[in-house]
Amino acid sequence: MRVLVIGSGAREHALVHALQADDSVSYIICAPGNAGISAEVDVLPVDASNPDEVAELAVRVQADLVVIGPEVPLVAGAADAVRERGIPCFGPSKEAAQLEGSKTFAKQIMAEANVSTARAFVCTTVDEVAKALDELGEPYVVKDDGLAAGKGVIVTSDRHQALEHADNCFAKGAASVLVEEYLDGPEVSLFGITDGVTIVALQPAQDFKRVHDGDEGPNTGGMGAYSPLPWAPAGLVEEVTASVLQPMVDAMRLRGTPFAGLLYAGLALTSKGVRIIEFNARFGDPETQVVLARLKSPLGQVLLAAATGKVAELPPLQWREGAAVTVVVASKNYPDSPVTGDIISGLEEANALLDVDVLHAGTRISDDGDVVSAGGRVLSVTAVGETLAQARERAYAGVDLISLAGSHHRRDIAQHAAE
Ligand code: AMP
Ligand code: GLY
Repeated sequence: MRVLVIGSGAREHALVHALQADDSVSYIICAPGNAGISAEVDVLPVDASNPDEVAELAVRVQADLVVIGPEVPLVAGAADAVRERGIPCFGPSKEAAQLEGSKTFAKQIMAEANVSTARAFVCTTVDEVAKALDELGEPYVVKDDGLAAGKGVIVTSDRHQALEHADNCFAKGAASVLVEEYLDGPEVSLFGITDGVTIVALQPAQDFKRVHDGDEGPNTGGMGAYSPLPWAPAGLVEEVTASVLQPMVDAMRLRGTPFAGLLYAGLALTSKGVRIIEFNARFGDPETQVVLARLKSPLGQVLLAAATGKVAELPPLQWREGAAVTVVVASKNYPDSPVTGDIISGLEEANALLDVDVLHAGTRISDDGDVVSAGGRVLSVTAVGETLAQARERAYAGVDLISLAGSHHRRDIAQHAAE
């Protein structure tokens, strides 16, 4: 099977690695990829936000399966365009991707599916936001309704800051802003692979969204992750599959917009039970790096089953013993205005460490042939080990061998869980 992977992050690098381990995958091509991916498989340029370009590329490379990593092409309709050319595609339709593309739409479907989430007010003016803030009280949660790469949300006790964030969202063109009830408790990312009828959950992971140690500072796309979650209640995955994932898949099918691809549930384990923070329509980044590091089943087969309506026929997924940890190395000033174009060194040394995999995100090869930074999140240094503590030690040993001027990373990824 020939597989085309769309995207350029560490998530796509992890997807490529997992596909390489599947014997049924004979050829992998990634577009547009990054410096790390291009060192291992063929890459081609593509404007991933242009559905026709993605579909034409799939035809040109004779793909048997297209796997779309990021949300932007999905929300733009890339999966529909690929399927229109008769090529199986892992990723939801444009309409189904609205589960991620519009928080208001997601709330509607959750109501139809009887899935518990935070109470929310949909506001179209700053005055409405102010009223909603006073109604719900602090801590205030204010969200851009549309896509914002993990940076559209603010959680704060400062009313002025909350209003300012809403103002900024409107200024950037948001049609509406959500003010939400604050959900307390640890967060879990749970992924389900679905063909629109049946959904199979992967192992849960935890992401670290804030930029600084101790969960300080602004939200980012994600600064690190680990799996498994030793502290999670037994039966959590089964419970959430039955009470959240399957009802969402059923609700989407019943309204005539079946969701096939990866359904990502962002959960908060509150004192009142499991509540949904958000849904995404694709693999999470950086959680995918740790989840796939633990998956033993052949990924290409699993994704093809989802793309062709055969999830019910899949054998139960197999998982490796042990744990995985990933630490994101971000460029100077990420998440505000990342500085790029700096040389990264120590990559080979880090990658040579036992059970360490240096996954690339924002990297490119410069005209001089150096690997340089090209985005906010630059690398996702991933390690496996017998325990979380061992995986963590290995990941940080890798991070410590890498240098990139002005870069930063968190030192506390998986720390509490490992203790
Ligand atoms: P989202 O873009 O909806 O995933 O939100 C990004 C992050 O903001 C989440 O992972 C949480 O850490 C935080 N967050 C979002 N909504 C809430 C909420 N209702 N209560 C508490 N934290 C939230
Ligand atoms: N790690 C959060 C996300 O992928 O949205």
